[in-house]
Amino acid sequence: MATLTQTLAVGVIGALAGCGITYLAMTGAHSTKAEPTIIAPQPMAERAEDGRLAVYLTAEERAHVREEMIAFLQGLQTASYALADSDRDLLLETAQDISKGAGEPIGRTIRQKVPAPFREMSQTVRHEFGALADMANEAPVGNLQLQFS
Ligand code: HEM
Repeated sequence: MATLTQTLAVGVIGALAGCGITYLAMTGAHSTKAEPTIIAPQPMAERAEDGRLAVYLTAEERAHVREEMIAFLQGLQTASYALADSDRDLLLETAQDISKGAGEPIGRTIRQKVPAPFREMSQTVRHEFGALADMANEAPVGNLQLQFS
């Protein structure tokens, strides 16, 4: 009888463990899309041993950051061209676009998750491009180049 009970107990525990492993394997199979919150709640940001902060963003938020980055890069290319061609209208338009960014509502959720220095870096870059836009019509090209740099 004891042997039967033991066998049943081992069987039940084995079945539960099997389900658990299968669940983890299934959630892990979508690891590029699945958020860390599926297995356990994660902090918004945690510090690694090397001092860097890991920030947890959703796939949509990460894609938004990358789109903004590509927009920065393309904006720099266009602004650089506008400066070389002394095209003040193009410089003004491009610097204004960079200073604004794609905006809300996803930008707001990202700002809530990232640490303050990240927000400050973003604001500084956008502010500097706003200043470049303000100068674009009047300032000597040398001053525009300095602001651009
Ligand atoms: C003119 C200024 C900037 C340029 C030209 C630029 C450009 C780029 C480029 C080309 C990438 C790679 C994008 C990709 O993998 O598709 C990138 C990634 C990134 N940039 Fe910027 N960036 C600028 C400013 C900033 C600022 C101000 C911040 C933070 C406040 C920032 C944070 C990041 C982060 C976190 C990534 C990694 C994104 C990811 O792989 O998930 N960048 N940037």
